[in-house]
Amino acid sequence: MNAITMPSSRAYNVIDHTYDVVVVGAGGSGLRATLGMGAAGLKTACITKVFPTRSHTVAAQGGISASLGNMDQDEWRWHMYDTVKGSDWLGDQDAIEYMCREAAPAVYELEHFGVPFSRTEDGKIYQRPFGGHMMEYGKSPARRACAAADRTGHAILHTLYQQSLRHEVEFFVEYFALDLIMDAAGVCRGVIAWNLEDGAIHRFRAQTVVLATGGYGRAFLSCTSAHTCTGDGNGMVARAGLPLQDMEFVQFHPTGIFPAGCLITEGARGEGGYLTNSEGERFMERYAPTAKDLASRDVVSRSMTLEIAAGRGCGPNKEYIMLHLEHLGADLLAERLPGISETSKVFAGVDVTKEPIPVLPTVHYNMGGIPTNVHTEVLRPTADDPNAIVPGLMAVGEAACVSVHGANRLGCNSLLDIVVFGRAAALRAASILKPGASQPALPDKAGDATLDRFDRTRHAKGASKVADIRLDMQRTMQNHAAVFRNSVTLKAGVEKIHKVWDSLSDMSVADHSLIWNSDLMEALELQNLMANAMTTMVGAEARHESRGAHAHDDFPERDDQNWMKHTLAWCDDAGKVTLGYRPVKMQTLTNDVSVFPPKKRVY
Ligand code: FUM
Repeated sequence: MNAITMPSSRAYNVIDHTYDVVVVGAGGSGLRATLGMGAAGLKTACITKVFPTRSHTVAAQGGISASLGNMDQDEWRWHMYDTVKGSDWLGDQDAIEYMCREAAPAVYELEHFGVPFSRTEDGKIYQRPFGGHMMEYGKSPARRACAAADRTGHAILHTLYQQSLRHEVEFFVEYFALDLIMDAAGVCRGVIAWNLEDGAIHRFRAQTVVLATGGYGRAFLSCTSAHTCTGDGNGMVARAGLPLQDMEFVQFHPTGIFPAGCLITEGARGEGGYLTNSEGERFMERYAPTAKDLASRDVVSRSMTLEIAAGRGCGPNKEYIMLHLEHLGADLLAERLPGISETSKVFAGVDVTKEPIPVLPTVHYNMGGIPTNVHTEVLRPTADDPNAIVPGLMAVGEAACVSVHGANRLGCNSLLDIVVFGRAAALRAASILKPGASQPALPDKAGDATLDRFDRTRHAKGASKVADIRLDMQRTMQNHAAVFRNSVTLKAGVEKIHKVWDSLSDMSVADHSLIWNSDLMEALELQNLMANAMTTMVGAEARHESRGAHAHDDFPERDDQNWMKHTLAWCDDAGKVTLGYRPVKMQTLTNDVSVFPPKKRVY
């Protein structure tokens, strides 16, 4: 153990470890990476701030997409086309090809791992329709979502955790990762973390660090994300001087329960549920004549918002939309949608067999994140080389932007993304790393700057509570980076979010303890959230077009000429955001499919 003494002469005990690989995060992507690394004989640690089976993957409901063709004919090329179209042509087509081709093997692997999928009469994996998934390049809805009732994420997460225990991987549970350890050459050499249980600081030296820290839904006031979704890996990347990509693309799920925000799976509409306005009209028929209620999420969320804005919202204040499931019958609801039947009762007091559920679009997913290539290696694009990588650093899952979701993710493609790219990270690591290879000593003073920030935060004596600053951030994001945006609201949003950033220096942390100090933990999480919030707002203000989830009233059309490019956003320690751009990858990995050129996106 080393003792590090801060300038303030407070000492921290630092425990050093060496691994081949350190994975940060134990949701689906982190666990799939961890178990693959372990299986490849790499000495692997997984650091997680919550017990693995409490990670947010547990909340995924409706399914994982794969063109198994168990219910109707299906093809991975149709899935690829739908994903490219769903991304509004911002997704990288090499990565999308990889994900859609790997989908069926990934689902069969999960089945063999033990995931208890729902079954058809003849024993195959049950598949339901989901928004934007179509047959024959957009002709009619496809049944592609492989479901374990409406608890698919729960089933997958538990199975992956059990599988990872078969390998000699080590879990560091309830450890909060603070920062990456970078050397002077820009190579990632490890990670520094705080053990919440005993207060010790741990430095993990590794040949490769994999960030699997999930999204940052909690930057917004109303979201389907767990309280743990604070974009910690993204914050670490920003502090390491690396860019985040496409942060302006934030997905609103059409059916969050009003007003609690809890998720009602799109699988509810997949099973035949539909939306109505205050006039009882099935309004999606007007907005998406072919796919109707199963149009892509951005399309449905915008349609609902327009209905409410036109005065056709339901309830005394005309502020929500109704989701009808009562016609589906109690048996089907009990078999296919038991989880949301219970959630509706608890959070809306609704018996779904008898009455509709009040719903509203709610923040659900971050398409943007840490830019990576198809091997999950983190990118540090330069003017000379847009594909330059950061040696020793990978990112997977919602924290990453590979980019398979582009400007809008299709439902069920996130469970797919986490298992396909979690596995891809392990395959890459197995091919480039040698188990037990010797590693240079950590750079001098590795982690000192992090401990300085940690110590300053722990003893912060400003006038503003962490919870108050967080609420300011969440309100600003909710009001200024919403389903519809415009130049005025975005400009005001940028000003306000800068003020929120400035107020971080006036933060007060009441509890100075190092053990189970949730006040300190929330302060550190808020610092991470703010890097996400800043890059989201500034990126959104700069993007003068409408594409996918970024609907800009003053620039209502997609502009491929000027804007078919990824945003890169660097956020420095003073909160200054610098933007750059990199081209969308319009190439496929193989000759088995051709690039899908941009066209108008209608459902
Ligand atoms: O609606 C849902 O079940 C959510 C699925 C997803 O976000 O992929």
